[in-house]
Amino acid sequence: MPDVVARPETTEEVAAVVKIAARHRVPIVPRAAASAMTGGSVPRYGGITVDLRQLNRVLEIDLDNLQVLCEPGIVHDQLNQQLLPLGFSFPVDPGSTKMATVGGMVANNSCGMRAVRYGSTSHYVLGLEVVLPSGAVIWTGTGGSKALQSASGLNLTGLFCGSEGTLGIITKLRLKILPKAPARGVVTALFDRLEDAGEATRRIFRGGLIPSALEVMDRAAIRAVNAYKPELKLPEVEVMLLIEVEGQPAGVAEMAQNIAQILGTLTQHVQWSDKPAEVASLWQGRSVLGAASALIKPHATRVATGEDIAVPISRMPETLRQIAEIARKWGIACTTYGHIGSGNVHSAFVIDPRDPDEVERVLKASNDIHDLALAMGGTVTGEHGVGLVRSQYMGREHGAALPVMQAIKRALDPLGIMNPGKLLPEGQE
Ligand code: MLT
Ligand code: ZN
Repeated sequence: MPDVVARPETTEEVAAVVKIAARHRVPIVPRAAASAMTGGSVPRYGGITVDLRQLNRVLEIDLDNLQVLCEPGIVHDQLNQQLLPLGFSFPVDPGSTKMATVGGMVANNSCGMRAVRYGSTSHYVLGLEVVLPSGAVIWTGTGGSKALQSASGLNLTGLFCGSEGTLGIITKLRLKILPKAPARGVVTALFDRLEDAGEATRRIFRGGLIPSALEVMDRAAIRAVNAYKPELKLPEVEVMLLIEVEGQPAGVAEMAQNIAQILGTLTQHVQWSDKPAEVASLWQGRSVLGAASALIKPHATRVATGEDIAVPISRMPETLRQIAEIARKWGIACTTYGHIGSGNVHSAFVIDPRDPDEVERVLKASNDIHDLALAMGGTVTGEHGVGLVRSQYMGREHGAALPVMQAIKRALDPLGIMNPGKLLPEGQE
C-alpha cells in the first residue's frame, strides 16, 4: 500500500508532488488504470502513489498532421472513440483496450493484436512531456514540433517508452495516428498440428501478405472462448489461427481468398467473414481470453506470470509444444494464445491461489517458461513489461547492456525515488 495517494490534475501539480518526494526522499509510483500484469504500479516500498487518471484530456486532434496531443490518463478505447468517427485511429490494439490508459501503454511499450502490421506503441510516440525525478519538466521529440519524423539528438522519446515509471512521469503525449481501414475481414483456419500453424504463418508472409492481425489459440484457449461465448461454437481443434485483413472492401475479399488458397491443404478447415457483427464477435471472444481462461478450471483464477514471452516466429511451433510440456510437468492448467505473427505468446496459467502447493508449482513453471524464451533466442516479455515479476531475468537477458541501463537510471534518478524495485534487479538500481 502507498502511504499517500496524490491525484494531480495538471503537469504543474505532478511536478510539485515529485519535488516533495525528492525533498523527503520518499518513493513515488506513477499509476493510472493499474491494468498491467507485472505489479508495475504496486508500491514496493510505500511512499506516494501518483494517480494520473485525472489527466485524461485529448488536447488536440490534428488530422492534417496525423497526430494527437493528449494526457496519459485517457483510456485507449476512449481515445479511439474520439478518432474513429473522424476516420482515424491510434492503431495499436491491446487486449485491455477498454481499461488500459495510453500513458500506461507508452510506459510499458505495449503492443496487442495488430503489432504484426502496425508495430508496438513506441512506433507511434512522437514526443513526450515528462516530469523528471528532480521535478523539472522536459519535452522529448522537439518541444512544440509537429514533425512526423526527426533524426535530431539522442532518442529520449524511445528511452521513456518502456521505462515503466522508473525514469520520470509522462504528463503529455504527442502520438501519431493513421487513417482507419474502411473494411475488415477475418479468416479462421483450423489445424491438427501446431507445426502446420507455423508453416501457415510462413506461407502468408512468403505470399507477400501482411495481415493486420495473425493470432493463435491452442485447444484449451478455444475451449475458454467457447465457455465464455458459447454462441461462437468454435471447433476445439489442436490449434486455430485468426487472421485479420483490412483495406478497401474488394481488397479485403481478395486478400482473404488469397490466404485461404495459400493455406490450401495445410488446414483442416478454412473460412472467412467480413460481416461486421461476426468479425466483432470473434475479436471480442479473443480479446477477453486473458480473463476467460479461468473458465477452463472450476473455482480457479488466471495468474499472470511467465505469460508474455516473445520468440523468433520461426520457433513458435516448438515454443508452443514446450509450453504445453512445462504445464504438464508441473500439473498446471494452461491456455496458450497470442500474436503468432509477431512471435509473442501468452501462456495463461489457471490455478487455485489458495493452494500453496499449486502456487509453488506455478512459479516453477513460470521460471521454466522464461528460461525457454531465452533458450529460443527470445525475450522474457514481448509487450506486458518487466515490473516486479521479471526484474530477476534482466541480467541474463541484457548482459553487458544492463549496467548501461543502471547508469542511465542513476543519472536521471540519483536519489532512487522513481518507482523503486521495478524493471531493474532489486538492490542494484
Ligand atoms: C492479450 O493478448 O490478450 C493480452 O496481452 C493480455 C493477456 O495476456 O491476457
Ligand atoms: Zn497480447
